[in-house]
Amino acid sequence: MDADLLIHSAAQVVTCAATDGKPKRGAAMREVGVIENGAVAVCDGAVVAVGPTEVVQAEVTDPRRTIDASGHVVCPGFVDAHTHVVYAGNRIAEFEMRLQGATYLDIMAAGGGIIDTMRATRDASLVDIVAQSRVRLDTMLSLGTTTAEAKTGYGLDLGTELKLLQAIAQLDLTQHVSLVPTFLGAHALPPDYRERPDDFVNLLVAEMLPAVAAWYDRSHFAREGTPCFVDVFCERNAFDAAQSHRVLEAGKALGMKVKAHVDEFISMGGLPMAVDLGATSVDHLDTTTPQDRTHLAASDTVGVVLPAVNFNLGSADYANARALVDAGAAVALATDINPGSAPCPSMPLVMAIACRYQGLLPSEALAAATINAAHAIGVASRVGSIEVGKQADLLIVDAPDYRHLAYEFGGNLVSRVIKYGNIVR
Ligand code: NIG
Ligand code: FE
Repeated sequence: MDADLLIHSAAQVVTCAATDGKPKRGAAMREVGVIENGAVAVCDGAVVAVGPTEVVQAEVTDPRRTIDASGHVVCPGFVDAHTHVVYAGNRIAEFEMRLQGATYLDIMAAGGGIIDTMRATRDASLVDIVAQSRVRLDTMLSLGTTTAEAKTGYGLDLGTELKLLQAIAQLDLTQHVSLVPTFLGAHALPPDYRERPDDFVNLLVAEMLPAVAAWYDRSHFAREGTPCFVDVFCERNAFDAAQSHRVLEAGKALGMKVKAHVDEFISMGGLPMAVDLGATSVDHLDTTTPQDRTHLAASDTVGVVLPAVNFNLGSADYANARALVDAGAAVALATDINPGSAPCPSMPLVMAIACRYQGLLPSEALAAATINAAHAIGVASRVGSIEVGKQADLLIVDAPDYRHLAYEFGGNLVSRVIKYGNIVR
């Protein structure tokens, strides 16, 4: 067969493939598909063969380019399933306030936090937002992220939310991390609606969501079959379960897929509400009850855990990923990169934290950062594993065993990033 690229002799090719096209659960999360002395062949941006080097080499005639991956691991590019990467400014002042004792929720209740970034983002031009966000995406790429979800939510008025969607579309077309758009208009109450949450929900349902759905229908995302999500921050001082339900149900009726921030600080019924609406994912899960874990495990919804938030906020209340996996839930990992609760671009760091504080094994963390993360954002038919027919989004890792990815931390073992079969880093 024809190939543009043959990567051969890898110490390990780790496919992360699932046999049934579904997210991995339970014991299957440990089965990441390790092929010793492995090879991957790529043609026209897609994987055309994967297996032992001698088998793949025999199938491929005269590849245009070869990479000898001796002593290295080849694995799928990471999928960052939850990000707020598109915004302007920073929250260094808030960081110092927190170091001196203020809590994240205190700062939010005092009108800072997300609202602070909302002001900076409303004031910034589209060009500025794109430029600032591009720097973060470049860093994510260098750390191995090849696909990421990207939320709005720092506009909180229609014009600025559409500006953020435009920024996401421009960034998707002009840098190498593929993006999946999410409308998070229900991220916080903007100052003029602080005392009237239901009026803001009415505005989201009656005006903003229909405008976002119309934007999506005209966008290149719709043409390419990339889904668009609606999300909500179900939390004290943000949106309660009933308000969250109204927003998500309205988005769903407009054809959007559903996800929700639930149980970050306080468990207030968001998880069963979102799962029962058929959410693709529920995210955070730090305070999820055993009963709600069972509810999640019995559904097709992926549970996304975000341990960089706990690390950043100095909290020991990590989501109990071990219990989620043991209950049978499909678990994914993400950075939650954002200026307040997690200024973190690194999936390998998130995997390292998940192994130490959330009870995952390196294999489970890798499955959670690839195939399950792809399911959590509705793109698992394209990315998240090394399988014939899927996009050739691959990493060459400077270690002979994939477990180094979670074992080491603070550096960067990703030596090459391949996107659609092209070496981009
Ligand atoms: O996922 N929790 C709500 N949203 C983000 C934080 C956003 C911010 O602080 O700017 C999160 O943690
Ligand atoms: Fe978030």
